[in-house]
Amino acid sequence: MSTQPKAENLTWHRGEVDRAARTAAHGHQGAALWLTGLSGSGKSTLAHRVERLLIERGCFAYVLDGDNVRHGLNADLGFAPEERKENIRRVGHVARLFADAGALVITAFISPYREDRAQVRAMMPEGEFVEVHVAADLATCEARDPKGLYAKARAGEIRGFTGIDAPYEAPEAPELRVDTGAQSVDESAAQVVAWLEERGYLAG
Ligand code: ADX
Repeated sequence: MSTQPKAENLTWHRGEVDRAARTAAHGHQGAALWLTGLSGSGKSTLAHRVERLLIERGCFAYVLDGDNVRHGLNADLGFAPEERKENIRRVGHVARLFADAGALVITAFISPYREDRAQVRAMMPEGEFVEVHVAADLATCEARDPKGLYAKARAGEIRGFTGIDAPYEAPEAPELRVDTGAQSVDESAAQVVAWLEERGYLAG
């Protein structure tokens, strides 16, 4: 990942508000809930349900979704490994900024490569990157095929589709694993919110 700026003569400007002040203002700390899983595993649905539950509790929550971000910020990126890497690098920085601002940001990207996810983890303060494996298996995702993309990939109309002819590297030690193949959206969302609550993320 390119961490060195191209520009020279840059000065980092320190603000007047620190993390503790932001936590006090929002009533909870900032963090990134990093959902990773196959296409069709339910990442976006889960992210939006968790966002709603958190907003209903008065939290500052916000979803960053793969399909949506690829319409704007990352409209120049496709699905080759290097482009996915750049996708995750950029949204990793956006997630870091949101978490720094005090938000509970919920990201929904396949983010298929362990190394790319590890790099996002490494750019965030300890405890602010919460990796959530949205763990519906390939057969389940393919049977659901909500966008008809698995059928296209099997027919050879899409090349390099995750799970078919491009890899998905499942997390080995995620903070949380939700079985969206067996559980309802409500059950999975409640599991995520309960996890956050138990570990003090929702306390001011
Ligand atoms: S990632 O691999 O770079 O993290 P991202 O989450 O942004 O992927 O986008 C995945 C979405 O793009 C899928 O849900 C699907 O709708 C669409 N898509 C289009 N082509 C592909 C492909 N080759 N592999 C995976 N998803 C694809």
